[in-house]
Amino acid sequence: MLTNSSSFLKKAHKGNYAIGGFNVNNMELLQAIVKAGIEKKSPLIIQTSQGAIEYAGMELIGAMVHSISKDVSIPIAFHLDHGTNVDLVKEAIQSGFYTSVMIDASSKPFNENVKITREIVKLAHKKGIWVEAELGAIPGKEDQVNVNEANAFFTDPEEAGTFVEMTGCDALAISIGTKHGVFKYSKGKAKLDIKRLLEIKKHTNVPLVLHGASEIPRELKKIVEQYGADLSDAFGVSPSTLKKAITNGINKVNTDSDLRIAFTGGVDRYMTKHPNNMDPRKYLAAGRDATRKAVARRIDQLGSAGKA
Ligand code: G3H
Ligand code: 13P
Ligand code: ZN
Repeated sequence: MLTNSSSFLKKAHKGNYAIGGFNVNNMELLQAIVKAGIEKKSPLIIQTSQGAIEYAGMELIGAMVHSISKDVSIPIAFHLDHGTNVDLVKEAIQSGFYTSVMIDASSKPFNENVKITREIVKLAHKKGIWVEAELGAIPGKEDQVNVNEANAFFTDPEEAGTFVEMTGCDALAISIGTKHGVFKYSKGKAKLDIKRLLEIKKHTNVPLVLHGASEIPRELKKIVEQYGADLSDAFGVSPSTLKKAITNGINKVNTDSDLRIAFTGGVDRYMTKHPNNMDPRKYLAAGRDATRKAVARRIDQLGSAGKA
């Protein structure tokens, strides 16, 4: 059923585990995520970036999410990811599709970020919509905005406390060392600033969100590399590092890149084995199944299995 994530995120906050925020752009990714959620009896946050809306349309994706959620017993929230365009965030709030939105004014100076976030929180709360905001800058491609390493900065714990208090946001995305995209850490796995996370946790009382958290698993890399990709320079957040982050206060973990690699690998494998296949359903189903497995693995890592 479609539900506001506030109830299950509060439980995750108390229970010290995390819920996955999984990005979708099309029907197959959506079906894969929901199937994995059902198998694992896990609550889900399905999310669309501004780029996903540009690709598929808010109404079409929204209608698909509402339709698929109606027939399942696990709680599913529908979330706008990285809303940097204030007009689009307002449109999402008014649309009736989303149960939560992220306003991402993290590229703006602190006071402006507070002002924009507060305005969105007011509008969203009137409609019972939950709001995620961001403080600190996470490097990599954040939706259509590219945050380079030089412009990235970690979240300041005291500022985080003040920010949450001043804006009334319901969850906070923080920068503690992760990076968006497939190519995160060319020289190895991420090192997260867990001390900073603990300090942020001390100063805030809302669920904390980890973006750019994909693992870029070796097994998935190997599959796409069989078909010509070169991901030798792509590394993500190891399961043990992710576990540390969750144990120490992260309650929502965003994953997009791992699903993209899984889907692409599934399609590559199918089409290489069946080069004369001209039925898109065949290779899309292969991509869908590979993605389902990647989501199930992720749910196990987050500790949300059996929490629906
Ligand atoms: O924030 C990053 C997400 O992976 C969205 O990426 O803008 O390519 O849809 P996208
Ligand atoms: P990844 O690129 O690590 O999957 O991060 C996705 C994300 O943070 C979406 O908001
Ligand atoms: Zn993100």
